[in-house]
Parts: sequence; structure tokens; C-alpha cells
Amino acid sequence: MQLTWLGHSCVLLDGTKKVLIDPFIEGGSVTATNPDLVAVTHGHADHLGEAVLLGRKTVANTEIARYLKSNGVAAESMNIGGTQVVDGISFTMTPAVHSSVIEEAGAGFSGGSPAGFVIGMDGTRVYHAGDTALFSDMKLIGELYHPDVALLPIGGRYTMGVAEAMMAANFIGAKIVIPIHYNTWEKIAADPLALKTGIERTTDLKVMILRPGESLDLPV
Ligand code: NI
Ligand code: MN
Repeated sequence: MQLTWLGHSCVLLDGTKKVLIDPFIEGGSVTATNPDLVAVTHGHADHLGEAVLLGRKTVANTEIARYLKSNGVAAESMNIGGTQVVDGISFTMTPAVHSSVIEEAGAGFSGGSPAGFVIGMDGTRVYHAGDTALFSDMKLIGELYHPDVALLPIGGRYTMGVAEAMMAANFIGAKIVIPIHYNTWEKIAADPLALKTGIERTTDLKVMILRPGESLDLPV
């Protein structure tokens, strides 16, 4: 499987199927990735992104799935703690400490609970944390699902920053950590090298800093 960070929280997993997580990049479009499946962690515009425009089968919580279906998009709903297999790809929905309103439809449109995903494809498990604060049950995600890769937000302000992501990486134990959700805007400026230095000095985990559009072949 090949993992590509397209920027912000948007990640493409390309294996048996092409799975696009949080289809948004700043100042551009991700429709050219032509995914088979889309996964949306929560309702904020920088995550729901182009899910409606893409129009592909989308895995999301029940509230976002209902919103997508009302816009003519096939959706496979689920909720936190559950696992479902969609077209041969395993999706486990994990908690996230954040918020999730669907912004384009106004404050009255609930996006349900924010989430992350552990996605299993071709024998590799990738944990995408979504937007979240640090929470100690990340230890359970590590113990239960043994992700090979953890995609963690480090931009601060709306999510974990570098210091919290270091502890998250320890809780999860994935051998490869990839920082996301930083430097898209000034408000979420962060130094991924500080994360890399901090984690690699104190653990045997590896931090891979990708440039937007850069790929990684898994397993490494
Ligand atoms: Ni958010
Ligand atoms: Mn966000």
C-alpha cells in the first residue's frame, strides 16, 4: 500500500482500493485522486471538504452520512467504537476530542461526534486521528488495533500540538508517526522537526515528515 499526504488532513491510501481520508486541501482540489472510497472524520469544512463533489461511497458517522445521502452521495454510516468492512477495506471509528458541526449548512446542522479511523488494507493498519486533543484512551487504540502508522495533528490551537502529539505517539505505539494538520495556515503553525527530534530521541518510533503530495510505501 502506498500512503500519500496531500496536505492538511488529507491522506490517500492506495492499495487494493484507493481510500481518500478527509478530502480537503487549501487552495486546490483532490478530485483528481479519483478514489474508490472516501472517509470523513468530522463535519468541519477542512475535513468534509469535497466529499459531496467527489460523490464516491463515503464512510462517516451517522449524522454526516445522512447529510451526504441528502446530497446524493452513497454513504456507509457507523459510529465510534464500531468496525465495518466496506468493499474489502476495514474501517474502525475511534473517538476524537473535538467538535463536528457541518459549517456550510449553518450551526443547526449537527455533524455528530468527531472521530478518527483505523483503516486496514492489504495487511497494513493506518490510524488517522482526525482533529483531536490528546486523550489517554489512545492507549486502547494501540492495544486493540496495533496500527502500523499513526497520522497525528500537531498544529495546536484546534488540536494537539507537538508536545501532546509526542505523548500520543507513545500511547499508540505505531512504529511510524506522520504529522498532519499543521502549517496550512498561520494559526496552526508548528515545527514537525521538533516532533521528530523529540520522539526519535526518546523512543524507537520513527517520524516521517512528508511534503504535501509526497508518498510512502508501506510496510516500510
Ligand atoms: Ni475540525
Ligand atoms: Mn481541522
